[in-house]
Amino acid sequence: MKIVSALAHPNIALVKYWGKRDLNLILPLNSSISVTLANLASHTTIHLDPKLSIDSLKLNDQEISPESKVFQEYFNSYLKIMRYKFKFTEKLRIITKNNFPTSAGLASSASGFAALSVALNEALGLGLDYKKLSQMARMGSGSATRSILGGFNYWQMGVAPDGSDSEIGFIADQQHWPELCIAIAITATGEKIYSSREGMQRTVKTCPIYQTAWLDTVKKDLQDMEQAILSKNFTLMGTVAEKNALKMHATMIASTPPINYWNEATKLITNTIVELRENNRLESYFTIDAGPQVKILYQKKDQLKVENYLGKLVGLKEIIYTNVGSAATVINHHLE
Ligand code: PMV
Repeated sequence: MKIVSALAHPNIALVKYWGKRDLNLILPLNSSISVTLANLASHTTIHLDPKLSIDSLKLNDQEISPESKVFQEYFNSYLKIMRYKFKFTEKLRIITKNNFPTSAGLASSASGFAALSVALNEALGLGLDYKKLSQMARMGSGSATRSILGGFNYWQMGVAPDGSDSEIGFIADQQHWPELCIAIAITATGEKIYSSREGMQRTVKTCPIYQTAWLDTVKKDLQDMEQAILSKNFTLMGTVAEKNALKMHATMIASTPPINYWNEATKLITNTIVELRENNRLESYFTIDAGPQVKILYQKKDQLKVENYLGKLVGLKEIIYTNVGSAATVINHHLE
């Protein structure tokens, strides 16, 4: 029997991935850039045991039925591919816990599948490097590709039909930009209405501006974002991240039927961020993924202003202050 525990952090896309070119291999239609977060984490323990008769999953202290949508759609397909690729037959007991809301647009699947992949790599003795690990994590969730590394990294979309060149790359490490801070404003704790999987498929299929407003413009955002990170240009980073997130949400709203993840608190926070910036009172920017939470980018020197102006807004359930986090890692193992 092998028992391995691993820890991974969610990441926030500064230039988003939105749309798949291959649904089964989870291959994106555009490259993306992200920052890995500190403090928020998925802690995952796996038991790989020939005596187990079925795969099972405990998520946040709750047993998840193998018949459930989350198990069927996410874990079954991931495990099927892993067994085929790495030739193992043992069943798996997965126990995973997030210290932040799950399935609410906070990238819990990113950190969850990154932690699971790192644990499986250790349990099976695969010795995969970070690029191969990112491809393994991708089979659970696209954004998990980017939670393998800490700091700032990119996910190269690749062009090969088998996905062999779709992998993570490194831009800068965790220590590169200590001034950069991220606050996660939680505006709802329930599960989101549509999974990002459903949302992006509908956009690709039905949005008339997907090509022009999204795919044709992402390349420039990627170039600007890489430059902003390397030169630690906060204004450029924030401007590009905010614009990129708004473009992604614009394509969702222009889909049929429209997809809108925002609630009243999402609107209040984003409007306030823009207003404070226009009035030269606080330079902060927002980005939003497939959910109602607002991720605020700001500089350490403005911590108190962020707490005072944004941290107490009506409708906010919780605000988590964090900064740049580290890579996914094995924290414990017991191999018999
Ligand atoms: O990881 P997925 O396949 O559920 O997609 C996540 C997509 C966004 O979070 C909206 C954007 C991104 O690049 O993370």
